[in-house]
Amino acid sequence: MNPRAKLLSLGTLMPVIDQALEARFEVLREGPAGDLDAVIAAHGGEIRAIVTRGQWRTDAALIGRLPKLELIANFGVGYDTVEVEAAAARGVVVTNTPDVLNDEMGDFTVGLLLATVRQLPLAERHLRGGHWQKGAFPLGPSLRGRRIGIAGMGRIGRVIAHRLSGFDLPISYHARNRVPDIDFAYHPDLVGLARAVDVLIVVLPGGETTRHAVNAEVLAALGADGVLINVARGSVVDEEALIAALRDGTILAAGLDVFAAEPHVPDELRVMDNVVVVPHIGTATHHTRGLMADLLIRNVMSWFDGAGPVTPVAETPVVRRG
Ligand code: 8YV
Repeated sequence: MNPRAKLLSLGTLMPVIDQALEARFEVLREGPAGDLDAVIAAHGGEIRAIVTRGQWRTDAALIGRLPKLELIANFGVGYDTVEVEAAAARGVVVTNTPDVLNDEMGDFTVGLLLATVRQLPLAERHLRGGHWQKGAFPLGPSLRGRRIGIAGMGRIGRVIAHRLSGFDLPISYHARNRVPDIDFAYHPDLVGLARAVDVLIVVLPGGETTRHAVNAEVLAALGADGVLINVARGSVVDEEALIAALRDGTILAAGLDVFAAEPHVPDELRVMDNVVVVPHIGTATHHTRGLMADLLIRNVMSWFDGAGPVTPVAETPVVRRG
């Protein structure tokens, strides 16, 4: 019998993933001492696949140390922490977990929007803190009369737009290119979109091209009644500019699932009452993480069966093994 193929598993994934992979592969992990170097020194020449998630960087240096690497399977749709150019240059295929999380992200984004505009966490703190007896929770902002802007009109953006279509509010969007089959108003630049709306929902992909796309100028354009919702990547928003905008009233409020240096969240964001902060939980349900795990496993199995990747990313070669 051939020795089992070696896989490197970065970070904590899910027990169901570990079990499926361990049944077929020799799964290598960084030990509790954080000794990835030792793992690579011992096995680097034989590692054929990496399974990873967004909290870890799979960069050119790591890829360069694994001469037999064929596949990088990412647990998540966003793969900004995988250096895809380095993978593509080496003929290494990268896969992600698209589509299975779209509905969850649609639901979650609507929830975060409502929680932010209607100040649900603040109202809950009012009740839990025993303040209701002393006075009613003050009247607050509404979603009524607002204009919704969505930055990013990919698969998740479309689902969010579809959900919000039931809210009887005008929707417009910004993306690199106009999306032919949707009727929402298109804004070729983000400042223009921000100026035209008072809710800006960010679902742009992460990475260098979108880094700080939401900057001080965009926030100023969004305006004093403006609400920012970020369910994309922390890198897409200039966090310092956002903190300043929330503090000085340049915008009204923000709902944030993602941060520049997770799991670190700046103290300013944690204490401000006009901010709702949650710890990157957009897809964090049993249902959807189960679907994502299944897709990741299918990508790895299909690859090693010689049937090619199931959901390869656009940047890496579509190839079949063997
Ligand atoms: C996950 C995500 O939190 O899919 C993504 O891009 O950000 C989330 O689904 C993450 O990828 C899992 O680690």
